[in-house]
This record gives sequence, structure tokens and C-alpha cells, in this order.
Amino acid sequence: MILGAHVVFLGFPSLYRKQTDAALMRDWRAPPPNPIFAIGIRTFAAFAHIRAALAPPPLTMFELFLGFMRSQVIYTCATLRVADVLAAGPRTAQELAEALGVDADRLYRVLRAAVQIGVFAASGGCRGVGAGTEAQLRTVRFRNNRLSAVLREDHPNCIKDMVCHMMEDNKPAWDALAWGVRSGGDIFAHTHGGQDQWAYFQASARQEHQFSRAMASVEHLGMHSAVTDFNWARYRRLIDVGAAYGSFLAALLRRCPRAKGVLFDQVQVVERARGEWSSKHAALLPRTCFCSGNFFEPGSIPEGRDGDAYVFRLIFHDWDDGSTVRILRAVLQAAGKSAVTLLIVETVITNEFCDSVCSSQQPAFRQASERGFLPHLPRADLAGEAVLRARIAAALPAAARGAAAPGTRTS
Ligand SMILES: C[S@@+](CC[C@H](N)C(=O)[O-])C[C@H]1O[C@@H](n2cnc3c(N)ncnc32)[C@H](O)[C@@H]1O
Repeated sequence: MILGAHVVFLGFPSLYRKQTDAALMRDWRAPPPNPIFAIGIRTFAAFAHIRAALAPPPLTMFELFLGFMRSQVIYTCATLRVADVLAAGPRTAQELAEALGVDADRLYRVLRAAVQIGVFAASGGCRGVGAGTEAQLRTVRFRNNRLSAVLREDHPNCIKDMVCHMMEDNKPAWDALAWGVRSGGDIFAHTHGGQDQWAYFQASARQEHQFSRAMASVEHLGMHSAVTDFNWARYRRLIDVGAAYGSFLAALLRRCPRAKGVLFDQVQVVERARGEWSSKHAALLPRTCFCSGNFFEPGSIPEGRDGDAYVFRLIFHDWDDGSTVRILRAVLQAAGKSAVTLLIVETVITNEFCDSVCSSQQPAFRQASERGFLPHLPRADLAGEAVLRARIAAALPAAARGAAAPGTRTS
């Protein structure tokens, strides 16, 4: 029975063999309608549960534990830009190695591992063979499939920056998880020379740029539903607080042609965001204003006007209760007496979220309780909805009373 499950699993890549480059470059931002998506995800989760129930626990445990190898294989392919070179067509390991200036035998072995987990496809007998022989380096041809394609920098749903950000910036903290549990100490500071995440990014323009681009790729993971499921057009001005490069703000302005936008973040982020907008969202520039400052300081936050909405997307999961309350109070002060709305777009911990979608990849998210924690965000209390509401109530009692019910769509 277990063998059968493996055959089905490994058979998946063959379904994609005939995909054309145009199909691989398809924009996946709009997944199937939510009920279909949800049914599909739950069906596959049920199969995964059956498979887990049939497999001997040591095997399942070993597979779970080896997740770090999968991450390294994917990261290596991403950072070497293998998918970008394969965009020109299938290549042998030898040809790829020459193009990339790397060791052909090592590359062959990594690509063979990648093919086995469904990333890239291979022709000429890559799977099931022994170590890369001289002949295999020159005869087995690798090509992109629908998974590897999203590592291409020109893919509309490229998540390469997210992969590289997670591995380069966050993984060192995850490596020290046991230290963090033993000591209760600040894991990120422990592994990043005593700095917190934001000081670390400020010290490295390259890593901060990669992080801001990674945040833009959140759109490619289904966040577009936050744009389509809510009536943003009722606000005259959308002030995106901690906007990074403002991919979310751009999506909102496209959807609301009469609205104006303010992109607010730290000074160095905003400077680079301007450059990104000139190339990617030039048509929106006349409606957009760029402001920099510190969201803990009311004086540096854009002043509110009647009809404005302050938007916080993926901000509060970075901070603990006290900091979240401080940010909200600072914004309230900036809003003054104007009639403004605070709109919070956040991932919260719910049982539904913890179920199939995150499953084995992100065990730290799988908290039945109201609070989780992420080693790379030591000051964060990854919050359930009740905790988030409590924070809002602490900062803005009146606003919390009038708060609308949160959206429930998770596609
Ligand atoms: C997790 S990212 C979210 C980015 C964006 N809202 C999105 O959803 O793509 C957090 C953002 O908060 C910004 N940030 C962190 N500390 C800040 C501060 N004190 N003042 C203003 N922005 C800050 C960071 O530069 C970063 O762009």
C-alpha cells in the first residue's frame, strides 16, 4: 500500500511534461473559486492523512525530519538561477554548469534530488539511476516544470525572493530553535550579532531589498483575495502603513481607480520603492504619494483626513502586544479628529489555517492555542483572532466596538 502511495506521488511530474512555456508562465494569482479550492485542498489533505496512517511511524518521522534537505535543494536551485537558464530550453547538467560556472557533477546530483521532489523535470533516465556518470551529465536533459517555473525571475508569480529571504535571513534563527527553547532568549539577536530584524535589514541594503521584494511575492500566494473580497473603493485615500514596496497598495489602486494612495515605510525602503514604482506601477504614480518615517512616532505618520483608511497588511504579526498597541495609538494620534478607518489584513492562527494548507511544512504554525511564535520574529506573538481583537480593543476601545467582522476567505 505504501508503495502505491509513492507511485501516485512520483507520478505527478509526468502530468506536466507536455506543458508549454506559455502554460508554465501562467499567472496563478487567481486560483479556482474558493469552494473548489477548499474542497481540493481538503481532499488532498485526506489522502495525506491516509498515507500517514498507513506508513510506519519511523518512516513518516524520517520524512518529516528531512524537510531541511528539501529546503536546501530548492534554495540552491533558486540562488544559482537554474530555472532562469532553463527558460531558454532543456539543458544537460554539463551545459547548465558551464552557463552558471559551477561544478557539473554536484549540480547533476542536486537537480536529480530536485526532480525527485517534483521540482524540474528530466528526460533520459535521471530518476532511479546511480550517481551522476560522465554520460549522464551530458545526456540527461533538465527542463522547467510548473514548480520550478515559479523560481524564474520573469515569472508573474515568482517566489524566488521569498525562498532566498527565508533561507538567508530567517533560517539561521530557526537553526537555533533548540537554543531559544532552552534559554527563552531572543533567537534572532543570538544568531544575527545582537540585532533585531529591522536593524539587521538596515545594515544590509541587499537583504532588505530582497525582503521587500519577498513581501511583494506574498501576492503570488493568494493574498489577492484580500483585494477582491472587500469594498476598498469606499475610501478616498488608502494609507499603506509599513507598505514595503507597496505591491498591495498598487493592487488596491488598480482596483479603485478614484482612490489616492500613500506608501509609508522606513526611509531607505521608501527610496527604493520609488524606483520600483517607476518601472512597475508608473501609471499609478500620479495618484500616489511616498512618505517615510517611523510608525511608532505619530509625528512621522501621514496625517489623516476624512474618508481615509490606514491599511496595515502583515504588520502586527511582527510585533508583541505592547508594540502593536503603540503603533495603533501613534496612528490614532496622526489621524487626529478626522473620520478615518483602520483596515487590518493579517494572517491569524485558526484551526482551519493550521489544518491542511500549512501541514507538515510549518510545524511552528500548528498551534492549537491562540499564540504561536516564530524564531525569526522573537518580539512577535503570532496571534489568533481573539488576541488581535484584544490588542485593538486595548489601543482603540471605541474603534474595536465598531469593528467589522473579519473576512473568512483563505484562498
Ligand atoms: C512584514 S513587512 C510587511 C510589508 C507590507 N505591508 C506587505 O504586506 O507586503 C513589514 C514592513 O514594516 C516596515 N517597518 C518595520 N518597522 C517600521 C517602522 N518602525 N516604521 C515604519 N515601517 C516599519 C518594514 O520596513 C516592512 O516593510
